[in-house]
Amino acid sequence: MTLNLENLQKEARAELEKVAHRVDLEDWWRANLGRKGKIQRLTRRFGELEPRERSAFGQQINEIKTGLKAAFEAKTAEVERNELEARISAASIDVTLPGRRSSQGGLHPSTRIMRQMYRIFGDMGFQIYRSPEVVTDQQNFEWLNMPPHHPARDMQDTFYTTEEGILLRTHTSPGQISAMLEYHPEPVRVIVPGMCYRSEQITARSEIQFNQIEGLAVGHGITLGDLKGTLTEFAKRLFGDDRKTRFRASYFPFTEPSAEMDVSCFQCNAEGCQLCKYSGWLEILGCGMVHPAVLRNGGYDPDEYSGFAFGSGPERIAMMKYGITDIRSFWNNDLRFLEQF
Ligand code: PHE
Repeated sequence: MTLNLENLQKEARAELEKVAHRVDLEDWWRANLGRKGKIQRLTRRFGELEPRERSAFGQQINEIKTGLKAAFEAKTAEVERNELEARISAASIDVTLPGRRSSQGGLHPSTRIMRQMYRIFGDMGFQIYRSPEVVTDQQNFEWLNMPPHHPARDMQDTFYTTEEGILLRTHTSPGQISAMLEYHPEPVRVIVPGMCYRSEQITARSEIQFNQIEGLAVGHGITLGDLKGTLTEFAKRLFGDDRKTRFRASYFPFTEPSAEMDVSCFQCNAEGCQLCKYSGWLEILGCGMVHPAVLRNGGYDPDEYSGFAFGSGPERIAMMKYGITDIRSFWNNDLRFLEQF
């Protein structure tokens, strides 16, 4: 029996040595170590042995089993390694080719400008106030001192929904009313950012959707001087310290007096260029002292409180800052445009 075992082991190892493929490995296992394999068959003949021989035989057979298992594992690793190497050399990879670069995303130019503006106004104590894009006629117009048939409504061609009196906000100014109603009677210092919609002809200069950032400060004793100081400082922080600002009288139904702020052209330093149309000035935003009727609609007594408001267009500002000539570039998702930021 002992000799028999030695031979069996040698044979099994010799066969294993010749194995080169995964399928043959399985066959080898089945023939030698499997449930119906040679070792198992021998074990079944245990009973033919003299009782005193049994323990030595059992020990020997276990050692052989362990040895063969280890050899099998080593062979399996070798076969797998060889197969992998064969696959790699068959695939003929050109390792000298440059790799494919994964492209890196960037912030949309509007987002960049808006974040800069959040930071500037945030530093001045304004907090971001979100208000809805779908609003009532009252919120978008009436409470902002534009009753039905008011001619100023024509300045903002409107997208109406199929529901009576519900529309897409044409500006962020309805946020003024929401903020006042929410904060009353506390002082208000908010900016209201977000999308606005106007039913206009789409051209290089006008889009049907665009962002605005509204600003509102309401409190005791707020003056036109505060408005000018805040916005002048804002312009310097956004466009550079040596920028000059000027305020031109204008008209908005919800502010009185109203103005538009220009900043001296940062491209030509107010010498005159294409960007500023040779005027030396760039129009940045609309602003004014909150109209008493609007204060009242927000729950503030105009005899006690006053405030200023402004509205700016981040896309227009981005166009000036980055020299973008066509406002349609912002939303047509052309990577050649977006990748420049
Ligand atoms: N809502 C105005 C517009 O869209 C801008 C504005 C806001 C003007 C606040 C004055 C005060 O044109």
